[in-house]
Amino acid sequence: MKRLSFLLLAGFMGTAAQAQTVHSPTNKLTLNFQLSPSGEPTYQVRFGAKPVLKPSRLGMLLQGQPALDKGLTIARVDSSQHDDTWQPVWGEVKHIRNRYKELAVTLQQPASNGRRVVVRFRLYDDGVGFRYEFPQQPGLSYFVVQQELTEFNLPADHKTFWIPGDYDSNEYTYTTSRLSQVNSAPIEAIQLKSDPKRVQTPLMLKSDDGLYVNLHEAALVNYPAMMLDVDTQTFGLRSHLVPSVTGAAAYLQAPEHTPWRTIVVSDKATEVLASKLILNLNEPTAFATTTWIKPQKFVGVWWEMHVNKASWNYADTSNIKLAGTDWSRLKPNGHHGANTQNVKRYIDFAAKHGLQSVLVEGWNVGWEDWAGNWKEEVFDFVTPYPDFSVPELQQYAASKGVKLMMHHETSSSVTNYERRQDAAYRFMKQYGYEAVKTGYVGRIIPRGEHHDGQWMVNHYNRTAQKTGENQIMVDMHESVRPTGLHRTYPNWLASEAARGNEFNAWSTGNPPEHETILPFTRLMGGPMDYTPGIFQIKLEGWNPQRNQGKQVHTTLAKQLALYVTLYSPVQMAADLPEAYEQHLDAFQFIKDVAVDWDDTRILLAEPGDYLTTARKAKGKEEWYLGSITDEQARTQTVKLDFLTPGTRYEATIYADAKSASWDKNPMAYQIRKQKVDSKSVLKLQLAAGGGAAVSIKPVGK
Ligand code: NOJ
Ligand code: CA
Repeated sequence: MKRLSFLLLAGFMGTAAQAQTVHSPTNKLTLNFQLSPSGEPTYQVRFGAKPVLKPSRLGMLLQGQPALDKGLTIARVDSSQHDDTWQPVWGEVKHIRNRYKELAVTLQQPASNGRRVVVRFRLYDDGVGFRYEFPQQPGLSYFVVQQELTEFNLPADHKTFWIPGDYDSNEYTYTTSRLSQVNSAPIEAIQLKSDPKRVQTPLMLKSDDGLYVNLHEAALVNYPAMMLDVDTQTFGLRSHLVPSVTGAAAYLQAPEHTPWRTIVVSDKATEVLASKLILNLNEPTAFATTTWIKPQKFVGVWWEMHVNKASWNYADTSNIKLAGTDWSRLKPNGHHGANTQNVKRYIDFAAKHGLQSVLVEGWNVGWEDWAGNWKEEVFDFVTPYPDFSVPELQQYAASKGVKLMMHHETSSSVTNYERRQDAAYRFMKQYGYEAVKTGYVGRIIPRGEHHDGQWMVNHYNRTAQKTGENQIMVDMHESVRPTGLHRTYPNWLASEAARGNEFNAWSTGNPPEHETILPFTRLMGGPMDYTPGIFQIKLEGWNPQRNQGKQVHTTLAKQLALYVTLYSPVQMAADLPEAYEQHLDAFQFIKDVAVDWDDTRILLAEPGDYLTTARKAKGKEEWYLGSITDEQARTQTVKLDFLTPGTRYEATIYADAKSASWDKNPMAYQIRKQKVDSKSVLKLQLAAGGGAAVSIKPVGK
């Protein structure tokens, strides 16, 4: 490991120039920091000669004291550079280079007891990170951030991929529009109607001259998520922190710092997806040992509830109080999914096909009573329904070499969950569970807090820490969108935190372009539990009355490709075993595809249109390739020059049939095998809403 970090210039008091410039390691990017004559800090960013951000203000609005946004002087400037390489516990690549130049500007406010704040910038060749730091000081000890005044002023009316700035949900389809046209008023709110010109990050933008810009944040700790308010006249963006119940944003004590604000920039869309800037800005792992953390594939008693074939509930009775209820006296509704027999069926299926785990939802009491009531005591996380035998299933799963995955739907009663977490994790360890899927459906308790506010951010992070201390892996649904914290907590395998495949079962669904946008938005911060792999595309068959006209908005072959294009170390084979049994030839790809990688090549990409990604399986000479398109059919020409020269491989190509299309003929696929080497070029024909998946395995020299 190479490490180089030294101070170039430090500590000249009082006389520092009002403007500072720093370049990225190979001079691709330039950042200028400036103080106006009235002491207002601004920064601007260029990519070569092209402006990325025009002068943009920096500052903080504090409660009960003067703002930290003007009357500032430069007290000190520190510059340094850094270059080292580290290995993630799991990931898209084996090694990650962390190479940047740093500029830290200490600002002082003479009129307010000389209060100080440091703005630290890191310039990478693929982007910028910066944060505010509040050193320990007499004039600023306990303090409350009312709002952050950070601006990102775009030079023009860029094409923008956005979702509304809802404080409680990110489960929206993306709108593509000019910045000047951002307006979420006509969009149906999922939790809370927000300011119509407020959007969430990661925000993806593209300039007319081909510059790709992604705005997000890294290492969201003890602070609310940042949304962005759009000025549709000037194309300026201003940070808006999700408020707490009091209306203030963050309760802090110095020394403290904000998360990193991130700006990933490239003239190639592929490079935006390959950027490791956000991970690099996170802290190394918090755990001494990580060998217990296992990337994995799983099936689950899950989709059958979403397609109305089974229920989470055991009984149909409503208004049940958790305490004092004798569950064995309840009349079963006859279609409870999480019953011992049915779970055994999934265990058998996982064992037969070499999948590691089985998720079971609806196993524990409370589901009759949970939805939408904003009630504090719904689930206790340790009491199974009478038809779900925990010891019997523990024994059965162990005999088949399969793990059960726990489910904790908290109903967003987070106070209740926090009181019960220790007992719940003890219960898991006692019965051999190594991973938990958590969920936060509904309005948060403590009432008035938001999913993306400081209180909940701290809860998700505490949960990552606590599960980690118990050597438990976690997958969070309805959490705040990730910011690279899986580097620090590698047991935090994935989050949902966006609109997953499940929406196809219960609403208008996700349009065919959705999966071509997610990597440029939600996935910039970390892995997503999208739950790919739905084979039975039209859903009527599972329940003709309730699923009329419902379908997944892709072809079957595209569902396979998603295992490669949507990165996650925990991937569900989301459909029912009986759906897979009918297409075992296509299911072979799901069995084969890796979930941990030595290398990743983003080959072809355009947000909203298409994406082709190739990845090399960890410790193997096998490659997997996924290629997807939006609603337009396309031919993608893919050079296999990433393969080892001189090695011959067999490629198995799972492609849309000629007659396939996502709406009319989504399940038509063809599988062909072909010998390839590093000089081969594949032509992949993608149907409308379609895709192709390819496994490439060596056949000898
Ligand atoms: C929403 C989650 O995203 C989904 O996966 C889960 O099945 C339901 N909530 C029930 O907890
Ligand atoms: Ca969800």
